[in-house]
Amino acid sequence: MVTARGSLQLTLALFKPDITRVPHVLKAIRQRIVEEEFFIIRNKELRLTREETEQFYIEHQGKFFYNRLVTFMSSGPTQALILAHEDAIKRWRHLMGPTKVYKTKFEAPSTIRGMYGLTDTRNSTHGSDSPDTAAKEIAFFYPEFSIEDWYKNDEPSF
Ligand code: PPS
Repeated sequence: MVTARGSLQLTLALFKPDITRVPHVLKAIRQRIVEEEFFIIRNKELRLTREETEQFYIEHQGKFFYNRLVTFMSSGPTQALILAHEDAIKRWRHLMGPTKVYKTKFEAPSTIRGMYGLTDTRNSTHGSDSPDTAAKEIAFFYPEFSIEDWYKNDEPSF
């Protein structure tokens, strides 16, 4: 798989249903994305069905929180963004902060989850955790988007 366009890497970010109807939070997060110099390559809002959500989080099937997570993520609108940056996967996860709210509030209060996360479920954002996951997750939300073509193209398309 080709995984470089210049020095840029792609990742998939989600704004979860706890923030997609809270304009000032969305605005603040977008501001952070701009300040941190991410490129927003694609952005759309959709509402996941229960079946789609089960599929998206299939790796967590069987965990105690799976049903709670699926119910929450299919309860309202989600925004799906393709972001590009040098080392985008790590940078976006760093900007989000840890998953667990107790950790986030104490260890990373100025991260997105530190500021807006309410619980381990309602934690505002998601980010791919590896290049393979990013490829799968981008294909899940943007089946028409060719990562291979994007990485091969020398022309910026922002
Ligand atoms: S794990 O078990 O370490 O692989 O899980 P983790 O990577 O921490 O989290 C995976 C996603 O599950 C959500 N999550 C939870 N939801 C509900 N209740 C609890 N207790 C819980 N713990 C984790 C968490 O928000 C992660 O969602 P994403 O969208 O991947 O960030």
